[in-house]
Amino acid sequence: MRINQCKIVDFPRIVDKRGNLIFIENNIHVPFSIQRVYYICDVPHESLRGGHAHKELQQMIIAVSGSFDILLDDGVNKEMVTLNRSCIGLYVCSMIWREISNFSSGSVCLVLASLPYDEQDYFRNYSDFLEAQQLIIRDQ
Ligand code: TYD
Repeated sequence: MRINQCKIVDFPRIVDKRGNLIFIENNIHVPFSIQRVYYICDVPHESLRGGHAHKELQQMIIAVSGSFDILLDDGVNKEMVTLNRSCIGLYVCSMIWREISNFSSGSVCLVLASLPYDEQDYFRNYSDFLEAQQLIIRDQ
């Protein structure tokens, strides 16, 4: 899996003087079936989140409030993406190392995930991730 399979997705937005409404439907605006939703909030500005990759899990990451930066790394290429609008999401495919930083005050990072939580799905060590990714690239 490569960075170029990750992409920014625009969600439908119903603009209204009373406030905007954004909706997301399974398998339509998100290219997988959502099995889990979690969010990260009350993050101190200097905190780093992420710092891992997933073997199978796909995610859609959304800054529903505020902003933060996401570094994507497929073992060959790296890319920094800033999320700062609630109507867009960043689709992250499996086997991408990600680091999330520079959280603005009051920001909320919402994550839609393709699988239930499973610690066995994580690479928490960068060298282990690189080794596995190189094997995948070699076998392609
Ligand atoms: P982790 O995925 O490492 O957080 P980050 O978003 O910074 O990458 O998860 C932090 C802790 O929370 C870890 O102990 C596992 C636990 N956790 C769950 O129990 N369920 C979940 O759905 C998630 C995402 C994490």
